[in-house]
Amino acid sequence: MPEKVKKLYEGKAKVVYETEEPDKLLLYFKDTTTAFDGVKKAELKGKGSLNNTISSLIFEILHRYGIKTHYIQKLSDNEMLVWKAERFPVEVVVRNFAAGSVVKRLGFKEGQRFKEPLVEFFYKSDELHDPLICESHIELMELAPTETIPLMKETALKVNEILSGFFKEHGITLVDFKLEFGKLPDGSVGIVDEISPDSMRLWDSETGEKLDKDRFRFDLGDLLEGYREILKRIS
Ligand code: C5P
Repeated sequence: MPEKVKKLYEGKAKVVYETEEPDKLLLYFKDTTTAFDGVKKAELKGKGSLNNTISSLIFEILHRYGIKTHYIQKLSDNEMLVWKAERFPVEVVVRNFAAGSVVKRLGFKEGQRFKEPLVEFFYKSDELHDPLICESHIELMELAPTETIPLMKETALKVNEILSGFFKEHGITLVDFKLEFGKLPDGSVGIVDEISPDSMRLWDSETGEKLDKDRFRFDLGDLLEGYREILKRIS
């Protein structure tokens, strides 16, 4: 079993460790939950394990469809082994229904279904509070190689198709989600970071109940109860 060799970086939700193999990293999923640029923060025992388990399950589904990601395997409750990647400071968001920042920014009604999935790019910068950007900014600021822009967009839409169908089968609506990409050791571009209820909006298809991190952001109910319900339905 791969061992942690050196702590490389500690983020809001994860700790990244080097392993004995230079091209593999170990991610430790923390119980810390933050929102609004870290202004709201809590320790929720068991959250790290839920996110690691849900994220691993999703990466395994994506691999079955031939989507490239950094995921190698789930090592323990809170640990995931991944390929080391050169991360692009870009967040790719796909939206099927209006919620969150797009409601505030453009005045859509929450829950309004989009005719086509909407793809948005954000510049990953704590200092600038992750501003919305367009493809020209990615090129101009060299945030990611130009040729990867259409690839990120196509991959995000394909992931949306796969995951929308998957969650629908389990009575859950995939409202929106965020992906990050990076260059993997073999030179290809793949999905990095996590894909969990911290980075997706998931609503109960029948009742509309929010099962994701919005429960924590807006005090809508017990966060872990929502995450456990998601895991119960999809596993
Ligand atoms: O806040 P906004 O509506 O733009 O978020 C869109 C989607 O991206 C949501 O599912 C949210 O959880 C996710 N997101 C994220 N990390 C961010 C910003 C948004 O995972 N820094």
